[in-house]
Amino acid sequence: MSAFAIKGGQRLVGEVDVAGSKNTALAILSSVVLVDGLTVLHNVPDVSDTRTKAKLIERFGAKVEWSEGTLAIDATHLEMAETDEEMVRSIRTSFYLLGPLLARIGRLELPAPGGCRIGARPVDYHIKGLNSLGATIELQNGVYRAKTDALVGADMLLEKPSAGATQHLMATATLARGCTVIRNAAMEPEIVALADFLKSCGARIEGAGTSVITVQGVSALQPSEFRVEADRIQAGTYLVAGAITAGDVRVNGLRPEHQAAVISKLRDAGAEVSEGHDWVRVQAPDRLKALTVRTMPHPGFPTDMQQPMAALLTLAEGTSVIEETIYESRIGHVQELNRMGANIRLEGGSCAIITGVDSLSGASVEASDLRAGAALVLAGLAAQGETLVKNIHWIDRGYQKLEQTLTDLGGVIKRVPTEEQEVPV
Ligand code: UD1
Repeated sequence: MSAFAIKGGQRLVGEVDVAGSKNTALAILSSVVLVDGLTVLHNVPDVSDTRTKAKLIERFGAKVEWSEGTLAIDATHLEMAETDEEMVRSIRTSFYLLGPLLARIGRLELPAPGGCRIGARPVDYHIKGLNSLGATIELQNGVYRAKTDALVGADMLLEKPSAGATQHLMATATLARGCTVIRNAAMEPEIVALADFLKSCGARIEGAGTSVITVQGVSALQPSEFRVEADRIQAGTYLVAGAITAGDVRVNGLRPEHQAAVISKLRDAGAEVSEGHDWVRVQAPDRLKALTVRTMPHPGFPTDMQQPMAALLTLAEGTSVIEETIYESRIGHVQELNRMGANIRLEGGSCAIITGVDSLSGASVEASDLRAGAALVLAGLAAQGETLVKNIHWIDRGYQKLEQTLTDLGGVIKRVPTEEQEVPV
């Protein structure tokens, strides 16, 4: 087990390139089993979630080869397999393999999924949608047993615009006979990216990125080569790293329109933000101003940036309010930030009232999930003294070479064995 040892107080200055999107890569890795042949994916982030997902599809017979961010996946021959419960439980998107594998092999058993502990995270929309496409799914002793004679297109309405359910159902519908309509679909950039990938394989999809997606089923998907675009949450995290350290950070290789909600809040807080065709730069004063932030489905403020934003606002002048509306308990960062001297009070479970303090002080803290971990690293960069962030396996799920990137920007951060209590920086 490792930890991040951080010596705070350095202004971050410089430029960073962002790795490929974890969530897009995971969505494509679920759908790649629809393709009867070889898929080549470029710019796949080398993080533990993508590694686990690649291993999982290998269990079902796909052949996978990694080479420096490029993944070659041959899903010509697939078979029903016993899967390792631990592996399936470690990532939520393991469940998104159910529909695509059913479309190819007709029968399947998959343990119930896990993922970051940020709320109940049910899969009922997925199951309802797959049922309407003609799948029978039963949960017995923690294992989903699914089968279908034939998938047939259907008209369905999601109760909430779930990113995962939209991806899962859209992908599965590509091989269902006839037309599928998904209403109240999620509009996240990762949905559009997945649709682009599926279309590159010959799928017929319209409306991805809007609330109504239409899929005309085809008989097979063809091999293709596809590049995963930059991770908008990693990009947002580095912008906040610049802002929290009163720094000057330019993030390259991203789509500024995907950062619109984050950019708008950084400007409201008093940071100067400039943008070009594929970059965003933040220049922050010594002290930012308090904000009101409400997480919403895209294009609203992303829930994945809620915890990093909370870290930023602990040091802003005045009282900020952050309302988390997507997950009921995405609050694992609160107690740990308070250990560092922040003044955060929770109201009604998921509304954080943050009274800005003059400074944070380094402490030994524990990541409770991926973005909570990122928030603690950000706080550590700005805190006085030394911070030890433990449980960084959560952070490794979604940030490729985080410590290297922050070091390149002038941060002082090292990966150390957890037993090491002194911060050797
Ligand atoms: C994805 C992202 C995650 C992001 C989230 C929202 C991945 C791997 N993860 O998660 O980083 O925070 O989108 O942008 O891409 N819900 C149900 N029933 C369901 C499905 C969802 O009630 O069957 C609820 C969830 O509990 C949550 C809300 O819908 O309250 C949105 O969840 P969803 O968009 O599905 O999130 P994920 O796809 O799991």
